[in-house]
Amino acid sequence: IDTAAAITRETVEGRHVLVMDVLRATSTIVTALNNGAKRIIPVETVEEAVALKRRCADSLLGGERGGVRPEGFDFGNSPLEYSKDAVQNKTIVLTTTNGTRALVGCQSAHAATIGCAGFLNGKAAVRRLTAKTGDLALVCAGTKDRFSLDDFLCAGMLLQQIMAEEEVQMADLGWNALLLYQAYGESLPAVLDNAKHYQVLKGLGFHEDLEYCLMKNQLEIAPVFDGNEIRID
Ligand code: MLT
Repeated sequence: IDTAAAITRETVEGRHVLVMDVLRATSTIVTALNNGAKRIIPVETVEEAVALKRRCADSLLGGERGGVRPEGFDFGNSPLEYSKDAVQNKTIVLTTTNGTRALVGCQSAHAATIGCAGFLNGKAAVRRLTAKTGDLALVCAGTKDRFSLDDFLCAGMLLQQIMAEEEVQMADLGWNALLLYQAYGESLPAVLDNAKHYQVLKGLGFHEDLEYCLMKNQLEIAPVFDGNEIRID
C-alpha cells in the first residue's frame, strides 16, 4: 500500500499489517519504546493529543506539524530526543502528520494486527509478522498522501526479509519495492537525497535524524498497536 490515503477496509481488513514511516514517526516510536517508554498512544490531531494528556497524569506530548514540535509539546518528532532519561516508564501521546494517521487508519480499517516498522527494527518486526498465518500488508505512510521513497525502500527491505523466511505470493507493487531495494539498499542516503521529505528534513537541520533513521536492524523490538496503545510486549 503506497500511502496513508490508500488505507481502506479493502486493502487492510483482516490482514497482519506493518506500518512504516521511516522519516520519522515509526523510527521515533521504536526508539522511544526501546529506550524504556511504557507505551505510546498515537492520535490524529494536536487537539486530541492535548486533551488526552490532560486526562493521563504521567504522560508526555510528542509529535510534529510541518516537521517541528507544536507549541507546548514536550518532544518533537526527532527519535534522538527520546532518550532513556527522557522517556523511561513514561506514556507518550504522539501525533504526527502521516505516521500516527496511518496507524489509526489501519485500526479503523480493521487490520488483524498492526506492527510498527522502519529500517531500525526491520528484522525483528518481520519475524513477529511471519510468525502469524494469513495475509500480510505493508503500509507505507507516505507524506501528505503522496508516495514516499524512504518508506517504499523500507518495504523492499522487509520483503527481502519476509522472502528469506517463507514463501510468499506478492502483488506487483511488492516486487517493485523489493527490486528497488535490491538495487539501492546499500546506498540509501545517496538515493534518498533526491526524495522530497528527506530534503525537507535536511532543510530543517535534522541531519542526525536522517542518518539514524536509515540505520538497519539496530533495534530488536517489534512494537504492536492494539487499537489503544503501542507497546513492545
Ligand atoms: C509524519 O508522520 O508525517 C512524519 O513523521 C513527519 C516528520 O518527519 O516529522
